[in-house]
Order: sequence, then C-alpha cells, then structure tokens
Amino acid sequence: MSSPVSSCLLANYSMELHDVQVHKVDEYLQHLQLSDEVLMDLSLRFRREMDKGLCRDTNPTAAVKMLPTFVCSTPDGTEQGEFLSLDLGGANFRVLLRHWLRVFRPHCCLPVSVHGENGHKRKKLPLGFTFSFPCQQTKMDEAVLMSWTKGFKPTGVEGKEVVSLLRKAIKKRGDFDIDIVAVINDTVGAMMTCGYDDQHCEIGLIVGTGTNACYMEQMRHLEVLDGDEGRMCVNTEWGAFGDDGALDDLRTDIDREIDAGSLNPGQQLFEKMISGMYMGELVRLILVKMTRQGLLFQGLATPELLTTGHFKTSYVYLIENESEEVGLAEAEKVLRGFGFDPTVEDCIGTQRVCEIVSTRAAHLKLRTTVGVDGSVYKNHPQFSRRLHKMVRRLVPDVDVRFLQSQDGSGKGAAMVTAVAYRTAVQQAERKRILDTLRLSREQLLEVKERMTSAMLKGLSKQTHQQASVKMLPSFVRSTPNGTEHGDFLALDLGGSSFRVLLVRVRAGTKHNVNMSQKIYSIPQEIMQGTGEELFNHIVSCMADFLEYKGMKGVSLPLGFTFSFPCYQNKLDEGILLKWTKGFKASGCVDQDVVTLLKEAVRRRGEFDLSFVAVVNDTVGTMMTCGYEDPQCEVGLIVGTGTNVCYMEEMRNIERIEGDEGLMCVNMEWGAFGEHGELDDFCTNFDCIVDETSAFPGKQRYEKMISGMYLGEIVRNVLIEFTNKGLLYRGKDIERLKTRGIFETKFLSQIESDRLAMRQVRSILQRLGLTGSTCDDSVFFSSIMQETLHDLAPQCKVSFHKSEDGSGKGAALITAVACRVQQEQPEH
Ligand code: BG6
Ligand code: GLC
Ligand code: GLC
Repeated sequence: MSSPVSSCLLANYSMELHDVQVHKVDEYLQHLQLSDEVLMDLSLRFRREMDKGLCRDTNPTAAVKMLPTFVCSTPDGTEQGEFLSLDLGGANFRVLLRHWLRVFRPHCCLPVSVHGENGHKRKKLPLGFTFSFPCQQTKMDEAVLMSWTKGFKPTGVEGKEVVSLLRKAIKKRGDFDIDIVAVINDTVGAMMTCGYDDQHCEIGLIVGTGTNACYMEQMRHLEVLDGDEGRMCVNTEWGAFGDDGALDDLRTDIDREIDAGSLNPGQQLFEKMISGMYMGELVRLILVKMTRQGLLFQGLATPELLTTGHFKTSYVYLIENESEEVGLAEAEKVLRGFGFDPTVEDCIGTQRVCEIVSTRAAHLKLRTTVGVDGSVYKNHPQFSRRLHKMVRRLVPDVDVRFLQSQDGSGKGAAMVTAVAYRTAVQQAERKRILDTLRLSREQLLEVKERMTSAMLKGLSKQTHQQASVKMLPSFVRSTPNGTEHGDFLALDLGGSSFRVLLVRVRAGTKHNVNMSQKIYSIPQEIMQGTGEELFNHIVSCMADFLEYKGMKGVSLPLGFTFSFPCYQNKLDEGILLKWTKGFKASGCVDQDVVTLLKEAVRRRGEFDLSFVAVVNDTVGTMMTCGYEDPQCEVGLIVGTGTNVCYMEEMRNIERIEGDEGLMCVNMEWGAFGEHGELDDFCTNFDCIVDETSAFPGKQRYEKMISGMYLGEIVRNVLIEFTNKGLLYRGKDIERLKTRGIFETKFLSQIESDRLAMRQVRSILQRLGLTGSTCDDSVFFSSIMQETLHDLAPQCKVSFHKSEDGSGKGAALITAVACRVQQEQPEH
C-alpha cells in the first residue's frame, strides 16, 4: 500500500520504533489527552452553561447563548414545493448557493404550488437563508448578527438585521423577487435535512469550519421567551463555551496562542479547540514547539512550518488514514511540502500529533438522532468513529444515532422554509374550517331577531302550539323579602350532578341561608330506564340523606329543581313536556312529576313531603342570586344544557289570566332552531352531532352551545382536521372515532389557564391522542359579556355567578310559597 516516495522510509519502520515515538509524543502532549473523568466533568460543566443560557436572569452573562430559532416543527414528510436557499458561513465559504428542493408527494394534496420550472426569475421565490453565525432572532425571518465568528469580519454588519441587508442587496440587483421566509443556523439546517428522513432527529451538530449544535427544547425551559407551549429549536452556539473562563484549566498554551492570533481573541474558545478552522493550525503550532525543543526535525524548523495557516486541516485527514502505513506516507508527503526531509520518526511523530489533536476534538463533543454535517466530520477518516464511540461511552443509556446530512444545510434551509409553508397552509385551512363555527356580528344580530320573534310566538296564545321556544310560566312571582323562615329540603335533578340538600332559611335583620348537601349519582340505566325506577332511586337518595342528617321521619316542604321543560298551572305541579339532555326514562312525559315523586315517597313509606314546589334550574339560579341582589331578573344556565328565565310582565304572558305584576318565564330556549331557525348557521359538525344524538332534530340551539354537546363538536372538528391531514400528521386515529371520548370538562380544563397546553397534552394522551394541540381557546364568560354588550348596548347587564347552585333557589322559592301560604291561608 505504501507510495513510492515512502518505500525507503518505511524500510526503516518497525513496530518498536513506532511505539517509542508515539510514547514520546504522548508524554509531551499529556495535557491534550482528556481522561474520562475530565470529560464527564466537562459535560456537567456544559450542562450548567446550557441552563445558564436558558434561564432569563443568567442569560445576559451566559457564554453559551442558547438562542431561540423560532423553528417550532421538524418536517413531517408532507412538505413539498420549490425553495431557494442561500448558505453562508460554511466550510467552503460559499457565499451564494442556489439550491432547489423538489419533493413531490403524489398522495399529498396541499395546495402549495409556487411557480413553474423556469419561472423563478419572474415569480416570487420563497427563500431559506442559512447564515451560520450567532444571531438574535425575534421571529423566523429576522436575525440580528451578534458577532462574526470563524474567518468572517466584514465591517458594518454586527448588530444589524441581516435579512433586511440581504433584501436590500437583492433589490439592488433587480433581477430577483424573493420572499425570505426563514433565516437559520447551519445546525438547524442539518437537523431539518436529516429530520426529513428520520423524524426522530432532534439534534443538529456541525463540526466543520466552526462547531455548534442545536436541539429541540421544551418552550417552558426557554425562559427568555414568553409562553410555554410546545417546543422550539435552540441554537446553543456552544462554540463560545469557555469564553467566561469555564475552560481555563483545560486550555493549553497552544490554545492560547491560537486564540491570540485569531480574528476574535477571547471568543469562541471551545470552537478553537475543536473545529476545522483551527485543527491544522493547532497541529502546526505543536510541531513548531516540538521542533524548537529538539523533539522533531533535528530541531530545525522550515520557514513554511513557521507560516501561520500553512498546515491545512485537510492534511490531518490525509495523515490519519485508516491504514497507518498510507497515513505515514501522506505525512511524509506533507512534510516534504514543508521543505523537510523527514525521518520515519518525524512522520510517526507528526501522525501522532494529528491523532491527539483530532481525538481531543472528538472527545470534547457530547449526546435520539443527531443530524451531523461539516467538513471535519465528513472528511476526517476517523473523526466520526471516535465521536460516536465517545458519546456512547459517556451516555451509554441513550441510544444515539448519527445521521450525516447529505445535502448540506442549504437543503435544510429550504426544509425550514417548506415546513413554514406547510404549517402556514395547514393553519389557514384550520382557520377556514373553524371560521365556519364563528358567527359574525351580523349573523348574531340575525339570531337575536329570530330569537325575539320565536319568544313572541311562544308567549302568544294563538301561536304557542307551533312555537319552538315555549316560554313556560313558572308561577314564581315574588322574590324573597327576608322574612322567610324554616327548614327545607331541596332536590336538584337535571344537571351534571344530582343532589339532595337541607336548606335552613333564617329571617330577621341578619337573614341568612345555611345549606348542607350530598351528591348522588344517577346511573345511565336508571336515567334511561322506567320512570318508576328513576323516582324510586331519587326517593332512596332522599331517604339516605335524611338518615345521614338524623332527620328520618321528618316531614319537610320540598323545593324540587327539575331542569326539564314542564307545563305548570301552579307552583307545585310540573307536567313534563319532553326529556332533554341525557334523560330518557319512560312513562314520564305528559305526567306531573310532583305526583310521580309523591307516589315514589308513598311506595317507600319512610317519610312524607308536606309541599313540593317545582322549579327549573334557571329559576332557581335567578332566585339564589336574587336573594343577594334584588335587581337580579334573569337566570342563565350554560351547563349540560342551556336555558334562560326572566321576569316578564304578566300582560305579555297571554296564556295566564291576569295582567298585574310580573312572573318568571322559563324560556326553554334550548329548543330554538327546531323549526329551522338556525339552519343557515349550522355547520356540518352541528348536523352530525344532532343526527347522532338521542333526539335528532330537537334542542338544536342547545346542541350548538351546551356542555353535553361541545365535546362532540370538538371531536368532529378533530376528525375533519385529521382527514384533511391537518392534525396528527393525517394518521387515522381510531380512538377519535369513539363517540363521547372528548368530554366537555376537558374543554374547560383546556381553556382554563396559562398551563393549559400541558393539560391539553395530558388529556389528549389519556385519550390516546398524541401529537397535537387544540389551539383555538375561548374564555367563555368574558366573551359572552363582550358580545352581549355589543349586541344590546342599551342594557346594563351584570353577571352574578350563582355559587350555591339552584338548590338554594328552589328552597327559597318554597320558603316564599310557604310564607305566602301562611299569610293567605285561603290560597
Ligand atoms: C348547578 C345547579 O349549579 O348547575 C343545577 O344547581 C343546574 O340546578 C346545573 O342544573 C347546570 O349546570 P350543569 O353543568 O350541572 O348542567
Ligand atoms: C460558528 C458559528 C455558528 C455555526 C458554527 C458552525 O460557531 O458561530 O453559528 O453554527 O460555526 O458553522
Ligand atoms: C335543558 C332543559 C332546561 C334546563 C337546561 C339547563 O335545556 O330542557 O329545562 O334549564 O337544560 O339545565
């Protein structure tokens, strides 16, 4: 294998000679050989530096800057299109590289078509700009150069925004029109390029002219930016590790000499120990030093060896050929080029110096798939092997895979651009779909108009039969006046929980209400069984409660919050019009629920009820709030179902005799839309939710609003997103097809606060749906207030949240009724 030049040299070569010489160099360069302990310690120091850079308080003084890149997604493989990219700052000092990426995915239907084959000079090109220097970014297409590194030093650029500089330069040329979508670091480019083939690739590593790494970091760890949702790629700029003295104990005088002679003394100290730009020079300086001490070349340095930069990094690659002999022959060639007539010892010595310098570089590197690029990594025959070996030794429990970026970071820049395009297109499509769920002001005003006429229809004697909104009289006319007194039982049936309460109302100047309650469950089979079973169950819960309170056998007046539409002719009667929400018990419709309840009490025979007032939950809520604020005249429920009641003038309630005073009307507005009033506002999702519900065609307004259906709407939106490839990478998610998995309580959790996104993730994970988030969040009550103010500016409305539920209200109504009864015994 030896070349002709070296045949005579190699004749003198023996293993023994080799070992002696290697030993000599090793002794001399002891401080360049790092032990495992030192490397472990170094990786701890590096972790600390990273944390310092990530933390808001310590970032300003941190050497390792941990720069946000605003690249938040890695490729998902559906990107396509043509993109131009520029790559500045790499090994060959290429200033301009046009790189076309054409990734055609025939099955992918995203409407990205940028321009034709030859149209790039006429049409606007999307451009990704790889600019491999430390930059402060505030968005993806803006980057302020912090400082030049490597061999660059043009004046007037540091501290400037480079994208606008590039735009200006291109404008000056006049023959391009470009749309600069992203400016990225080469490490990000390497990660994105490799990420296209391997979606586990979340680290980008460059060992080239310079050295650096980037990786995907959780936003919540990136304190320098607000927000903690999702992840972002962080450009570590680890080349600057040690600039604050953290590596002083490991730097040798050669390292100091390299630094002193560089364009940026005191900066990029780690990079100067590792990267291609400095590796040859490190070897040269060592050779000079060893020569001066008589350890090589008989103590005589040539002018070539004394010239800065003459020992190219590529010589190191040649000399460290996998075959030691070939390597020695290369060493001889190189040394002859330096004007030496080298002995075999000189060649072995030089080879060993190269090995030690490049091994130290490989060992100084750290920790999933790493996308790697750079001239040293690619061209040095041993570098990658040593790097992999060391990483595996340092982090044996992590399965690290190194993927060499084949197409350079130019492709990566195009990739970032493509991902940005793909996410923008998907975002726009998601918005388009969600916009169908958003009502404009005009539409809301139209709904208001139609609701008003539906209300009038419901109130009028003539049209009541055909009305969708029934406007049911509640027979509640008076609000509490503070003189009510006594103990009352209350039942609260029809919301998300069924409860029994004991309410103590105390009269007098310090009038107050005390309550205690117990929540019971109503199993699905009872909700949908027979009426008798349902009422038996209710009564057995009451019996349990009385026993628990030590009040067995006591006969108390009862306020029955029964949250379903009922015709009432008096307060203590409620004829069920229809079931709504999840209830379906047979034999109840058209029956008086007070009678059904009393029959069940009688069947049980353990206690008695003296009087029962039937109250809708909206009415109960209004009364609860009315006890504190007598101005309260409207009750609103947005829960499992939705409904409103309000105090109406008696003369408008045509179906009830008498024109005097007010009566509370239970609107049952959930049924609005049953006569097609909402058809032009219903989306496809609303139609699906309605069709698959227990009572298709019924409660259309409620199905667009209330808790029982919101989760289903969201689930159907997610299915649509998935089918269109806008979520979960378009994967068919079986779980998503299960009705009801997306409970409405998840929505409230999702929308609750700043920590929301973490909760979303855990909720989605619990549902077996991973990989995305639901980003359209509403805070319900404030939006409702704003909208109300906008639509009815003449009304001054304040919202009181009923803290104690409507059970208290039902008891108060019962208390008022009992008071009135006592005042007018003939009633
Ligand atoms: C409760 C009331 O606070 O809210 C119930 O006590 C009412 O009467 C319920 O039905 C409505 O909300 P949800 O979410 O339980 O249906
Ligand atoms: C230098 C630059 C950095 C780049 C690296 C590799 O360290 O500062 O941005 O990634 O070289 O090219
Ligand atoms: C349903 C019921 C209604 C109740 C509302 C809120 O719409 O029909 O009576 O007020 O849900 O619980």
